Amino acid sequence: MNFAARITGTGSAFPKNRVTNSTIVKKLAKLGVETSEKWIRERTGIQERRISDLENPNERNSSLAFSAAQKALDMAGKSPEDIDQIIYATCSPDTPLPSSACWLQHKMGAYKAWGMDINAACSGFIYGLATAERFIRSGQVVTSLVVGAEVLNPILNWEDRNSCILFGDGAGAAIVEQTPEDSARQILSSHLLSDGSLWELLYVPAGGSNMEVTPERYAKKLHKLRMKGKELFKVAVKTLADSALQTLKKNHMTTDDLDWFVPHQANHRIIEAVANRLDFPMEKVLVNVDRFGNTSAATIPTALDEGNRDGRIKQGQTVLLTAFGAGLTYGSILMRW
Ligand SMILES: CC(C)(COP(=O)(O)OP(=O)(O)OC[C@H]1O[C@@H](n2cnc3c(N)ncnc32)[C@H](O)[C@@H]1OP(=O)(O)O)[C@@H](O)C(=O)NCCC(=O)NCCS
Repeated sequence: MNFAARITGTGSAFPKNRVTNSTIVKKLAKLGVETSEKWIRERTGIQERRISDLENPNERNSSLAFSAAQKALDMAGKSPEDIDQIIYATCSPDTPLPSSACWLQHKMGAYKAWGMDINAACSGFIYGLATAERFIRSGQVVTSLVVGAEVLNPILNWEDRNSCILFGDGAGAAIVEQTPEDSARQILSSHLLSDGSLWELLYVPAGGSNMEVTPERYAKKLHKLRMKGKELFKVAVKTLADSALQTLKKNHMTTDDLDWFVPHQANHRIIEAVANRLDFPMEKVLVNVDRFGNTSAATIPTALDEGNRDGRIKQGQTVLLTAFGAGLTYGSILMRW
C-alpha cells in the first residue's frame, strides 16, 4: 500500500510578556537607541510581540513547544505514546546539545519516538514538514510531531534598531499522520531550496567553530544576530513569490485555485508585496506578524493554527505555505486541508 501524509492537529504557545512598540521605544531609549512607535508600525506592521522570561522554565524553547504540541495532540485525538517521530525546527535551541527534540521528547514522555532538530532558520517548519511527509510516505513513520519554536531574545542585539524590533518568541506544532495515497486531504507537494552564497544577509558570527565566543567578542556582541535588512527585504519578496508560483505550477494550479496563503511573517510590507506580485487578495493571506512579530520557524505553524482553530481554513480547501529564512533557505508546501 502507498501512503500520503496530512496534518490532523495544530497548536501554538507564546510567552506571557506582551512587548508593545511603546515598550520597545522605552527599552531602546535607555540604551541610547532612537526609534518610534510610528516607525516600527509603518515600516513593519508589527504592533507587539511576545518575549520569553528566560528565568521562567515554562518559557524556554522546548517548554513553549511542549505546550503547542499538547494542543496539537489534543486536536488530533492522540497521546504522546502515539508519536513515532519528532522533527523540531529551531535556530535558537534550548542547548547546543542535546537537541531540542530530545528535550521535548523527555518533557512529553514520548518515548516511542525518535527526534532531531532542523536548523533552516525561518524556513524550518517547511523543511520539517517536508521531512516528516517523506518519512510518512515511505511507510517508516505513521505519526510525526513537527514543531517550529524559537526563543530568539538571547541572540538579539538590542542596540541594533534595524533588527531587534522585528523578532518575537513562540512555538507552533502540527501532528502529521499517515493517510492512504488516494486521500482527498493530504500534503500535495513540497519544494525546498537554499542558496548558501547569501549567508551574510542574516547570521550570527560567533558561537560555532568559525568563531569561538571570547570575552572580547562577547563585548563586541559577535554572538548576536546580524542582518542586512534592506537587501533581505528584496530577496524575501522575490523568493517567496517565485517559490509560491513554482509550487503551484508543478501542481498544474494557479493562484485562482488557492483558498489560503500562509507566508513567513517577517514584515507586513513583505507579505503585502508578495501578495501583490501574486495578484492574490490579502483577505486570503493568514497574518499574525502584527501581534507576534517574526517568530522565525514558529510563524507559519502559529498562523496556520490560528486559521485552523478559528474556522477560516475549512476541510477540502487548498492551502499554500511559503517561507524564506537565513541561509538563505526557502520553500513551499501545498496541501489539501
Ligand atoms: C529592517 C527593515 C524593517 C527596515 O525597513 P526599511 O524600510 O527597509 O528601512 P531602511 O533600511 O531603508 O532604513 C530607513 C531608515 O530608517 C532607519 N531605521 C532603521 N531601523 C529603525 C528603527 N527601528 N527606528 C527608526 N529608524 C530606523 C535606518 O537607519 C534608515 O535611516 P537612514 O536613512 O538615516 O540611514 C526592512 O528592511 C525589513 O523588514 N527587511 C527584512 C528583514 C527580515 O525579513 N528579516 C528576517 C528574515 S527571516
